[in-house]
Amino acid sequence: MKVIVKKDYDEMSKDVANHIINYINNKPDSLLCFAGGDTPLKTYAYLVEAAANGQVDFSKCSFVSLDEWGGLGPETKGSCVETLYNHLYNKLPINVEKQVCFFNGKAENLEDECKRVDEFIFNKGNIDISLLGIGMNGHLGFNEPGADEEMYSGVIPLDPITKTVGSKYFEEELDLKVGITLGLKHLLNSNDVILIANASKKADIVKETVEGEISNKVPSSLARKCNSSFIYLDEEAASKLENR
Ligand code: PGA
Repeated sequence: MKVIVKKDYDEMSKDVANHIINYINNKPDSLLCFAGGDTPLKTYAYLVEAAANGQVDFSKCSFVSLDEWGGLGPETKGSCVETLYNHLYNKLPINVEKQVCFFNGKAENLEDECKRVDEFIFNKGNIDISLLGIGMNGHLGFNEPGADEEMYSGVIPLDPITKTVGSKYFEEELDLKVGITLGLKHLLNSNDVILIANASKKADIVKETVEGEISNKVPSSLARKCNSSFIYLDEEAASKLENR
């Protein structure tokens, strides 16, 4: 896994956006998996700007959702679908209906929803880029500690840390129990796996990810097994690493 440390969140986000732009310029019909959460938001702003300036063309790309909170949809500010559409998809010159496949967290049968999204990916081959924030517990999407590496997509009971941290996204208190997520089998099979983390609160989990044991106890550490994986950090998130 290549470790890239930038001076701050802005520089980190710019570099991540450039990585994605270069990739798409080489492969215009890429399948992209973008995370919700706070960490990628500035990367999305740079991607929107690059598309508006003609530096990148997303018109042939496809987009698949990483995850969603069970029971939530676009009307809930802070849901993954609301975040991705408002910060990225609706701001790009793309045909959202045709190009984006997103988990419906309100589907009656979430297992069927997993199959639908799996099919979307299988029909395209595999994911080109997965852009993943790192949870405070090392989760990727809702692949919580102890996650099954062989799972394509699934419905996962939320880890207590995820429940606590998750409340930062929502204006009201929600009783969240499960997440629906792409599994590690899809994510670690991506051509490029890009992990991102910023701020000192992520320094411990970043150290475990990069320098700890490679184990599903810390799902983010499994990215080190991939041929082409990257972790982009700001100085604060990288502050506890011994070898940079
Ligand atoms: P964050 O979330 O980007 O809001 O820190 C990352 C995660 O928990 O997956």
